[in-house]
Amino acid sequence: MNHPWFSSSPEMLGRAVQILQHVRSISIPILTDDFRNILLEEAKRYPLRPAKNTVGTANNLVHQDMLLQDQLKGDGAFAELVVAFQQHFDEAISEQNYFSAPVVFNDVMLQKYEPKSGGITPHRDRTDYRHIICLFVLEGFGRFYIADDRIKTNAVEIANLPGDVVLMPGPGFVGLNDRPFHYLENITQERWVFGLRHDQSKLD
Ligand SMILES: [Fe+2]
Repeated sequence: MNHPWFSSSPEMLGRAVQILQHVRSISIPILTDDFRNILLEEAKRYPLRPAKNTVGTANNLVHQDMLLQDQLKGDGAFAELVVAFQQHFDEAISEQNYFSAPVVFNDVMLQKYEPKSGGITPHRDRTDYRHIICLFVLEGFGRFYIADDRIKTNAVEIANLPGDVVLMPGPGFVGLNDRPFHYLENITQERWVFGLRHDQSKLD
């Protein structure tokens, strides 16, 4: 069934997940403008805290320049998005065997990047984030890339317009252990992103 707030059907989402087996990251439009605006309104009411400027050490140092919030209302629009997207996603992959275990979207993260923010330098997400990573672009513009390593070898830009969801694999997707390096730069307009992930550490 097509949820009225999603602009891509479960079939289209399923096709994107299928393609993800071959490309390391892919994005598709997913949020209707109406839903996106409702989400943004709620997003802009949350208090945000600055992320630590650097994480990791020495050769693994990652610089990040963003504000964030991971405690979202249990009865708001984001809570509705999580439930609706989980259903949409489950339907999208219902006839496939991509994942080593059921995908449970149990980790949320709202991020804001100010214009001229330094973004985030090449990094891989934590290994606890399994199966698939979903980044919903709510507003703004920045350039998002996947690469082979921290020095941006073979960088490929991934479209990420407002309303898109950017998908990346995590360990457990089609038997791979892939965690692609990715980074964000050239933020030209205040950018809001909602990250939805399967955090294995919350399930074990
Ligand atoms: Fe990341």
